[in-house]
Amino acid sequence: MASSDLVQLPEWKTEPKRVPNKLHSLCSYIAMFPPSIPNHFIQKYTDEGDVVLDPFSGRGTTPLEACTSNRIGIGNDRNPLAYVLTLAKVQTPSIGRISSKIEQLEGDYAQGEADINLTQEDWKIRMLFSDYTLKQLLFMKENLCWDTNNVDAFVTAMVLGILHGNSDGYLSIKMPNTFSMSPNYIRGYIAGHELERPDRNVFNLLRRKAGRCYEQPASKGQVYRSDARKLTKIRNDSVSLVMTSPPYTRVIRYGAFNWIRLWFLGKDAKEVDRKLLCTQSLFKYQEFMTGVLTETMRVLKSDGTAVFVIGDVKDRTSDKVFNLGQFVWENCAEPLGFELKEPIAADVISDDTKVSKIWGARRGNATKIDRVLVLSKS
Ligand SMILES: C[S@@+](CC[C@H](N)C(=O)[O-])C[C@H]1O[C@@H](n2cnc3c(N)ncnc32)[C@H](O)[C@@H]1O
Repeated sequence: MASSDLVQLPEWKTEPKRVPNKLHSLCSYIAMFPPSIPNHFIQKYTDEGDVVLDPFSGRGTTPLEACTSNRIGIGNDRNPLAYVLTLAKVQTPSIGRISSKIEQLEGDYAQGEADINLTQEDWKIRMLFSDYTLKQLLFMKENLCWDTNNVDAFVTAMVLGILHGNSDGYLSIKMPNTFSMSPNYIRGYIAGHELERPDRNVFNLLRRKAGRCYEQPASKGQVYRSDARKLTKIRNDSVSLVMTSPPYTRVIRYGAFNWIRLWFLGKDAKEVDRKLLCTQSLFKYQEFMTGVLTETMRVLKSDGTAVFVIGDVKDRTSDKVFNLGQFVWENCAEPLGFELKEPIAADVISDDTKVSKIWGARRGNATKIDRVLVLSKS
């Protein structure tokens, strides 16, 4: 099949609109793709009970779509934020257990409130939340074991979802929800716009959040936090569909842009970024994607399908747009023996779905076109 054939209107854009699982709105995540894309390929290339894997799962869009359709959704991501958001979607506890946990935390907080000391907390965090709200947040931060317990992980994911945003459903000063600007930028903005830190009750907002976003998927799945080039927990020839969107060449620093949510998880944003792919070198990107596709080849069943959504990138100096998807096909996938199962589709992304423009944020070097590679082993 000629790789240069472009389908101008991808099939998932012409399908009848459906109501996606409410859990998709648990927490926003930068560079997330819409549920309609994984849903389209899950329906097209898998059956109930099949394994669907996203090695760069972000907020868990693919595994949630898989579990909602009674497949086994497996996520993987090296960012701890992505890990906990995906865990909440593939090991979703009952609403009763979530409500009891919130009640229990509220009761324990009432007993221990007097002992919480805010003075140790950094100015970067204190400028965002009132003392009333921050005390509750610090208590939650200390008492939620999101690493080991799925009820705690779900409550943590809800806190992350309401941590910052620009309505009274959020805990912070008015600010963007999808990502965090740098601390110095936020400080200047607060001063320039005389923003006040609101007193918000974390427990009450969590109950409201659960009412809006809770929906149990049909089946359960798994999540890992390995490097996408070494998925040691996943067996050879076990996956029917790999459905993913890898990082592009140095478009987004997933750690730095999530520093507030990572603070709540007790993680350092710079350390998180050191573990994730972030390079402007095409050579290094080619090496990385060759590693990812080699691992994809290993875990994929012989009749399986791998779908990679890769955005065009803009060169910072020349402003020239580069078709990174085509590059990955020609230099990484084809040399490994993959075949194109469908023509490479071009998905034109509307302006506000990729990077939020609240607070005058500019779009990095991502552009408006995503290329969709649909690959098979033979
Ligand atoms: C484009 S985002 C995926 C977004 C996802 N499709 C969604 O809807 O939320 C790419 C993800 O790759 C992760 N990532 C970057 N380098 C990685 C690596 N070496 N191994 C595993 N995950 C990595 C980032 O943390 C980020 O969540």
